[in-house]
This record gives sequence, structure tokens and C-alpha cells, in this order.
Amino acid sequence: MMFDVEQVVQNFSMCRQKGAYGPLHYLDSAAMAQVPDSVIDAMSGHDGGWRANVRRGIHRPAEDATQAYEDARLQVARYLGAKDPDEVIFTAGATAGINILAWSLGSSLRKGDEILLSVLEHHSNIVPWQMLSERTGVLVRYLPVDEEGRLDLTALDACLSERTKLVALTHGSNVSAAITDVALIAQRAHECGARVMLDGAQMAPHGPLDLAALDVDFYVFSSHKVYGPTGAGVLWGRRGCLEGLPPAFGGGEMIMEVNLEKSSYMGIPHRFEAGTPPVTQAIGLGTALDWVMRQDIDGMQRHLTGLTDRIMAGLITLDNGSNRIRILGPALGEERLPLVSFTMEGAHPHDICQVMSDRHGVALRGGHHCAQPLHTYWGIHGSTRASLAMYNRPSDVDAFLSGVEDCMNLLCRAV
Ligand SMILES: Cc1ncc(COP(=O)(O)O)c(C=O)c1O
Repeated sequence: MMFDVEQVVQNFSMCRQKGAYGPLHYLDSAAMAQVPDSVIDAMSGHDGGWRANVRRGIHRPAEDATQAYEDARLQVARYLGAKDPDEVIFTAGATAGINILAWSLGSSLRKGDEILLSVLEHHSNIVPWQMLSERTGVLVRYLPVDEEGRLDLTALDACLSERTKLVALTHGSNVSAAITDVALIAQRAHECGARVMLDGAQMAPHGPLDLAALDVDFYVFSSHKVYGPTGAGVLWGRRGCLEGLPPAFGGGEMIMEVNLEKSSYMGIPHRFEAGTPPVTQAIGLGTALDWVMRQDIDGMQRHLTGLTDRIMAGLITLDNGSNRIRILGPALGEERLPLVSFTMEGAHPHDICQVMSDRHGVALRGGHHCAQPLHTYWGIHGSTRASLAMYNRPSDVDAFLSGVEDCMNLLCRAV
């Protein structure tokens, strides 16, 4: 099936409606993507019937719920190119996945051990490790970034040593849009005996992955950015890595046996899923990934690249050499995620977002996008971001560009 945006849009009830917002040009999918109708149907099918908890009850609704939940796990494994569905742990989101790892893997780390992050990480991949550092004395180091917001891999060898126990990096930046060159990092990190975790929150929405080829040990992503519901996400880990780790949280259904003195734990994935998991959301996530995999992925990626280039070329034209607009991240024509962050001389990102929303019906994100260290590194307080999903049309980009022109006239301080 050829990619056709008009057909894709038909899958999203919110795109078909005029709705409370009038015509809306939604360019904030990196924060939260919309959900196709099949996902809403799958979740209401579960909650609207005789719903039941999973892996507990011995009755038909419980067995059906368990089957649907485990089918969703299988679907996630397929999307990730993972052969073993037990390597898939359902979490509450990417942040939750990283925190689970920080508690679990972190429990074996000691003062003198090191964790390597980068300057362009989302706060989700900084704060949990800083908290671990406060608990254990582990040193957190940061790989620098270059002017285009890519990881500076010339500094990699100097940042790695036998003290490095984990390299935890974004797979694609939510601000600069740079995509990480994983192969070299994984190779060097493994040579030092370190594990590698990728934060795939921004990469996972743009097509199925091949984790075996990526050669990483852990991968996290969020459901709500891959056309799934909120409140869910995934922590994937290699069986050999996960089996060596203690659970992060204790509670029901993750145990073999509980005695008053001590408890023993289940194998993976259940030892990492204490308590009632996000059953409905996991079912929705599995359906979302199945839906994405049924699309023409190459066509979708070409569509998104075309729209991204249209945004960048449009901003360059509007700037007209005045340097009032600064596009962050890789230059036009270079590989990037389908999102564009920019600054406008003299205009605050929140004001830009307000004007874009109120006068042009364009939904953007403004601020530091939970990546304050990157903005600090660039010497700016914040930026404005337009981010795309497969339901966006060229007309969304055109509305964005005429809104930017309006903002330049209204807000931009002449230089
Ligand atoms: C790169 C990146 N990592 C992590 C997260 C956090 O994801 P979640 O909100 O699912 O915890 C985000 C969310 O914007 C992100 O963009």
C-alpha cells in the first residue's frame, strides 16, 4: 500500500472533526502524537467488556485479558525486532523505564564507577542518574555536542574507560533532531565492558527498529509518541542483561515466594512488573504499533522528510539572510528527525506559541523542551519546536510558515 496522507488522516477521528479548536495544525507530535481510531477501539473493547486483571484470575475475562496483554508484548517485540518477547517490560513511559534501570542496574554500582550521558539528553535521561549519583557516589559524565547538536564522537574515547558501567544516550534528540550514530558508540562502550542504553522516545515513532543490528543492551520508549495511549511505555533489555538485574520495585505478581523474612522473584519480564500493569494502555500500544507496521514505512519516512525540508527551507526563506531566525540542529538536507527547533531574535518562544495558536491555529511547543542543559550549552533560554507525525499535510507546514512570518512582524526585534 502506497503512503497517502489523505488516507492516513482518515484513521484519526480528531483530524476529521472541525472540533472545538476549529481547523488545527497540530505540530506537537514529539510531545504527544494523536491516536488512530483502531487504538481507541482496542482500548474501549477491553474496558467496555468484562475487563479483568492479568496473570491472576482463573476465569474467562482474566484469561482473555492476559492473552491480550501478552499479545501486546509480542507486538512490541516485533516492532523492536526482538526475538524474545520476555525481554519487553511494560512501564508507565520512557521516564519510568529509565528510572527502573537506574534503581535496578544502579544498585550494583559503587563510588568510582561512571555513567556516560550527553549534553543533549532529555531530563528523563539525566535526573535519574544524578539521583543515583547522590545515592551511590557514581560519577555522571557527559559527552559534548557539536554546534549542530550532534554528539561529538571525537570525545568518545576520552570519556570511556574501564570505570564506565553504562552509556545512556538518546537515539534521536527531541531538540536538535540529530540522530545518534549508535554503531561506533556501542562498539567502543562494549570494548570497555559498559552496557549501552538508548532513549528511543523520539526515534521509535518513525518506524520499526532492529535492536539486534543496533547492538545495544537496553532501549526505552513511550507509548504516547508512537500513536498509543498515555501512561505506558517500554523498557527492553537483552535477556542476559535483564536476568542479572534485581527488580526495581517489589509487590504483587513479581514474586515466586514471599516469606516474612525474605522473598524470591519471578524471571523476566514479570520481576520488573510489580503490581497491576497498565493493561488497557499496553493493549492500546500493541494495537498502535501493529497499525504503524501496516503503513508504507518508506513512504511515510519520505513524507516526513519532505515536510521537514519544507519547514526548514521556508524558515531560511523567511529569514532571508537576516540571522533573525536560527534553526537548531543539522542543516537542511542532512539527516534529522522530523522536527525543527528554532529561535527568533527578540521573540520569546512562549509568545511565538501563543500567537501561532491564537492567530493561526498552529500547535507548537516552546521552552527548553525538558533539555535545559542543551539550551544552556547553546547560550539560549529556550526555543520553539515544530514536530511532525505521519498525519501532517503540507498545508500544516504552510500555515506554520505564514504564522512565523506574522510572528516576525509582530514580535521580532530588528537587529
Ligand atoms: C527524548 C525523550 N526522552 C524521554 C522523554 C520522556 O518520555 P515520557 O514522557 O514517556 O516519560 C521524552 C518526552 O518528551 C523525550 O522526548
